[in-house]
This record gives sequence, C-alpha cells and structure tokens, in this order.
Amino acid sequence: MQLSAALPSMLTGFILCSLRATALQDLRHPPNRIAVVGAGIGGTSAAYFLRQKFGHHVQIDIFEKGEIGGRLSVIEMEGNHYEAGGSVIHPLNLHMKSFVKELGLKTRLPNGDLVGIYNGDEFVFQESEWYLINVIKMIWNYGLNFLRMHMWVEDILDKFMRIYRYQTFDYSFSNTESLLHAIGGDDFITKVNVTIDEAMQKSGFSQRFIDEIVVPAMRVNYGQGAKVNGFVGAVSLAGTDSGLWAVEGGNKLVCTGLLYASKAQLVQGTVTSVQEKVRPTKSGNKVRLYEVNYETDKGPTLDMYDIVIIATPLTKELGNIKFLGFDPPIETVSKPYHQTVATFVHGRINTSFFGCPKPCQFSVSEILTTDGPNLFINSIGPVYPVKPGTKHEISKASDIKVWKVFSPEPLTDEQLRRLFESYHAVIVKDWLAYPEYSPPEKLPPVILHHDIYYVNSIEWAASAMEMSAISAKNVALLSYHRWYGKEGQIDQENLAERLKSEL
Ligand SMILES: Cc1cc2nc3c(=O)[nH]c(=O)nc-3n(C[C@H](O)[C@H](O)[C@H](O)COP(=O)(O)OP(=O)(O)OC[C@H]3O[C@@H](n4cnc5c(N)ncnc54)[C@H](O)[C@@H]3O)c2cc1C
Ligand SMILES: *[C@@H]1O[C@H](CO)[C@@H](O)[C@H](O)[C@H]1NC(C)=O
Ligand SMILES: *[C@@H]1O[C@H](CO)[C@@H](O)[C@H](O)[C@H]1NC(C)=O
Repeated sequence: MQLSAALPSMLTGFILCSLRATALQDLRHPPNRIAVVGAGIGGTSAAYFLRQKFGHHVQIDIFEKGEIGGRLSVIEMEGNHYEAGGSVIHPLNLHMKSFVKELGLKTRLPNGDLVGIYNGDEFVFQESEWYLINVIKMIWNYGLNFLRMHMWVEDILDKFMRIYRYQTFDYSFSNTESLLHAIGGDDFITKVNVTIDEAMQKSGFSQRFIDEIVVPAMRVNYGQGAKVNGFVGAVSLAGTDSGLWAVEGGNKLVCTGLLYASKAQLVQGTVTSVQEKVRPTKSGNKVRLYEVNYETDKGPTLDMYDIVIIATPLTKELGNIKFLGFDPPIETVSKPYHQTVATFVHGRINTSFFGCPKPCQFSVSEILTTDGPNLFINSIGPVYPVKPGTKHEISKASDIKVWKVFSPEPLTDEQLRRLFESYHAVIVKDWLAYPEYSPPEKLPPVILHHDIYYVNSIEWAASAMEMSAISAKNVALLSYHRWYGKEGQIDQENLAERLKSEL
C-alpha cells in the first residue's frame, strides 16, 4: 500500500529530475490566480484569452466597480435602448467578429443615412442618394483626394491586419511601440508621433480636404480635430468605410458573453491598490505575489494573485489604482481623457440652425461639423434601437425622431432650444471617452511590473473596441510567455517575412 503510493511520486521525482536539465521552463508551476481589473471589452476579452492560454485550472477574478461593458453601454429612452458609448465596428475587426460568432450573437447594420458637413455657416458637403452625383461632387470639390484617402487608409489597414497572423502564431510584444513597429514598421511609429494634419499634408492631401472632410471625421469619432495623432486619425477615417456594424441587443453583450465563456469570477468592487509581497515557499524558495486591495458593499478586503491585468485607463478619474511599495515606483500615467457628452433628444431639429429656414428640405441627417468657431456641437445624427425592428427609412433632418448629439460640454437649455424646434425627452451621458491626444507623446508601458500588465496602453495609439481586444490578446500571450520563460515568442523582429515561409 505504502509502496505503491510512494512509487508514482518517486517516478515523477525521477522524471522531473531528468527533465529539469532539458526543459526547465515547462516545469514552472502554473499560476494559481490571476486578477483582471475592469470588465469592459478589454478586461472581458483578456479573461477569455487568459483562459485559452493558461487552461482551466487557474482561477481568474475580474473586478468591476460599475457595469459590465464599461464604455460599451446603452441608454433607455421611451422603452427603446440605444448605444451610448462605443457604437460601430469595422468589418475587418477580426476579434470582435469572431467573438460575436463564438458567442452566438447577431449583427446589426447601420441605416445608411446621408452625411452633411456643416461649417457653422453652410454645408460644405452634402451626400446625395445617387452614387454618381456623389462621385461628381467629390471630384468637383476635392479632386482625387477622396480616392487617395481610400487608398491611404487601405494601405494602413493592410499592414494592421498582420497583427492577427502574429497572434495566431502566438507572438506577443512587450510594449505598444514594438507591437506597432512589428505590423507597420517605422511608418506606424512616426504616425503616432505626428498629427493627422501633418501626416496627411506630408502625403500630399489638400488642406481644404483635411479641414472639410478629415477633421469632421475626427470630431465625430474622437471629439478632437486635426491635432489627434496620425494613427488614431487613420483608424477614424477607416470609420468612413462601408460595412460598419454593431451587435444586436447592444455591443456590451460581447462583454457579458466573454465573461461567461471565460469562466472568470466577477467581483463587484473597486480596486484601490496593488502591492508586491514576497513570500517564502514550503521548499524554502521565494515567490512573488500581488496583494489586490478592493472595496465592496461589505467593506475593504484583499486577495493575493500571481498575475494582475489592468484593463482600465489609469487616470485619477477612471482607474485610480495606487501601486504601493514598488521600487522603482510604477509610474501611472495621469494624462487626462477627453470629455465627450452624448445627448439623446427625441424631437425635431431646428433647420434654421443649419442655415436652412422653414420650409426647408435637406436630405442629409447625419450632420458632422468642421472646426468652426461658433459651434457648440461636434455632430448630430439619428440613432436606432439596438433591438432589430422594422427597416428604417433614410431619415431627413426635418423628421421627428431620436437624435444623438456629441458635444465637448453638456448642452445648456438655451443651446438645446436653439438646436431643436421642439423636443420632449432628453438623456445625457457624460463620458471621459478616449485619450486627449497631443502628439508627439510617450506611450504608457504594457509591463508595469514583473507580472502586472496594462491593456489600455494601446489607447494612446488609438482607442477602439478592437484595439482593446488586440491588446488584451497580446497581454494574455505576453503574460503566458513571460511566466513560462518563452522568450522566443516575445518581441521578434521580421515576423512578416518569417511567417511568410511558415505557411
Ligand atoms: C462616446 C463614445 C463613442 C465611441 N465610439 C466608438 C466606436 O464607434 N467604435 C469603437 O470601436 N470604439 C468607440 N469608442 C471607444 C470604445 O468604446 C473604447 O475604446 C472601449 O470600449 C474601451 O474598452 P476598455 O475595456 O478598454 O475600457 P472600459 O470600457 O473603460 O472598461 C474599463 C472598466 O474598468 C472599470 N474600472 C475602472 N477602474 C476600476 C477599479 N479601480 N476597480 C474596478 N473596476 C474598475 C470601469 O468601471 C470600466 O467598466 C467610443 C467611446 C465613447 C466613450
Ligand atoms: C433656430 O435657429 C435659428 C438660427 O440659429 C435661431 O435664430 C432661432 O431662434 C432658432 N429657432 C428656435 C425655435 O429656437
Ligand atoms: C515620440 O515622441 C516622444 C516625445 O517627444 C518621444 O519620447 C518618443 O521617443 C517618440 N517616439 C518615437 C518612436 O519616435
């Protein structure tokens, strides 16, 4: 009895000893517990990828102080739900696409409302229902700039798509710069360090085109103008492509779905601090653990983790997590996030406001704006419930319906009364939405400490759902390879060339 019990352990002991020389890394014990802070798309997709990498034994706890989904959220107005935060997804966002497929969710396509661009005095551009008229207008006003923009964005997108191959082949990057460099070379690094204005001027786009077409796209997507960096600018311009989609029932269903699929445990609470603890083990070695302190309804408490993933912006207003007792100290980036207010209004637009007194007919309804001096809004456009419904007709600006207004500050009553001829319901969602971009700037680190990782570093290159998901997968791979000492899967050069021959 005793012998037979001892035998297997002697055997394993023997096997372990003989293996140690050849494959030490494979014998490192798996982590017991991983903490993920934040249950937005970054945190929930991190939990999902961590589960894939580390297997089903590790305990994954995901902390959330607010609602699952974070900046993916819906508001309710008169019984219907509308996307209030991140709303559209590009057709080539492959992680988002595969989540939706894996989770059995359905997609929803936008309505195809016509776009007008208003400069404070008049419309500088109005899209028509007729394709040919659009082409003629574009060429008449901007020469070949539209076509060139399409090619410029496509070239960037082409390179961007490399990240999916690298990740499929298990490669990871220890900082955001090397991730960008691996997919787009020096060109991508430079794009992050210049403004979209500089980047496009250098590529020969006309200033008029930049002011009247590019800037409005930045304002509607990032609440900021020509001063955002060239990379986030390109991401924003990709948002003018066709085929954009959203998730039926609300984009945040991806987060609840990933949370469930990851079998992570949700802890409703606010993480206040993380502290390093070095503990002796039974065998006399030392082990590094992180003490995560957090507050729940029941008061302050703490737990110990092997790996900590931070999946929230680390600003005072958003993340506000203290890293205690680290030497050297962990510098958290406290640069501000940009305020964007989304105001939902059920009513009728005052068309005179847009230089078109009654009786006025203009066919556009998705109104973007240039960097005009008198404008207190970034954009206004019709929104549709997240639930599938009847097919909506193309809206006109003069229709009574639900509008979403983006502005840099909350709208005053006086501004609402000027913007709307009449209205009967208003809901305001005030966001710290995305970084306040001001290139050139240093991107925050991804590795904050030996086993602490920062998913939201990538937002300083560009903030979008897919960017968070890409970074989450990178962090899952990176933490895994670092845990098991697989240096060959980290920061490899020339992956594009090398993977060509691997297929
Ligand atoms: C108005 C608006 C429009 C946008 N439009 C688009 C779009 O059309 N397409 C697109 O792709 N992207 C869009 N974005 C950007 C996109 O929404 C974000 O990039 C993305 O949702 C970020 O996800 P995340 O998980 O990284 O961060 P978040 O969603 O911010 O998640 C972080 C989570 O961490 C929680 N948290 C923070 N601190 C703590 C703590 N100390 N303890 C516990 N929990 C904590 C927060 O409550 C939050 O839930 C938009 C954003 C906004 C605001
Ligand atoms: C509509 O807008 C015009 C121009 O800004 C303004 O003069 C007028 O007062 C507004 N109409 C209403 C009903 O407020
Ligand atoms: C970008 O600019 C910042 C600030 O000037 C600098 O620290 C950083 O090294 C630059 N990055 C690159 C890759 O040029």
